[in-house]
Amino acid sequence: MSVRLHVNVDHVATLRQARGTTYPDPVQAAALCEDAGVHGITVHLREDRRHIQDHDVERLRKVARVVVNLEMAATEEMLSIAMAIKPTLVTLVPENRAERTTEGGLDVSGSLARVQSLCRRLATAGVGVSLFIDPAEEQIRASKEAGASIIELHTGDYANATTVDARLSELARLAHGAAFGASLGLRVAAGHGLTRSNVGALLAAAPQIEELNVGHAIVADAVMMGMKEAVRAFFDAMKARSTG
Ligand code: PXP
Repeated sequence: MSVRLHVNVDHVATLRQARGTTYPDPVQAAALCEDAGVHGITVHLREDRRHIQDHDVERLRKVARVVVNLEMAATEEMLSIAMAIKPTLVTLVPENRAERTTEGGLDVSGSLARVQSLCRRLATAGVGVSLFIDPAEEQIRASKEAGASIIELHTGDYANATTVDARLSELARLAHGAAFGASLGLRVAAGHGLTRSNVGALLAAAPQIEELNVGHAIVADAVMMGMKEAVRAFFDAMKARSTG
């Protein structure tokens, strides 16, 4: 099975917001990702709007040729935005204003009625729903009950493991979660903290994973892999001025 890749372009917007400029534009970055063959673009519209803005999601929805996956908190404000923009997919995530990035999975079993209601309303509008959860049986079972079609397993603990034992134990948890989710008929995705160094072992351990959401590492690689080219382009611009 070939695994689909969704690139999260939030941190292109982080860079833009840091300077209050109009560039770099996450929607333009999304177009470059499409050219490179990605299957989807993921954006997280946070309640504090620290990176992606509402207009980014609106513009992305208009121009994207691939899946648009809107990550959002399970709130009524976000639901009404999603109902208006109608992304291909909504991923419900927990959100805490003080966090640097999404920490921990959504507690679906602890908020089943609310998540169920959001899933139902999004499905009625033709929007698929994925739930970002820890690879625990209780959360996977609750996700099925809530009516989600996809679960995205949180790979943060795997990515952050500092010992071989911890890494293997997280891999085993993810492998079990992926197999259990698939056995319930759920589609299985994964994401958070994935890099070129840790993705191979994950996919080998959990062959049921169909889709990955990767942001930070790809944006970081883009900066490093593009740095020489950017400096050379700037030199060219300087030369053009001196001869023009
Ligand atoms: N999946 C979800 C649900 C996320 O919240 C994030 C972070 O925004 C990611 C995947 C991507 O994580 P990373 O930026 O570490 O690749």
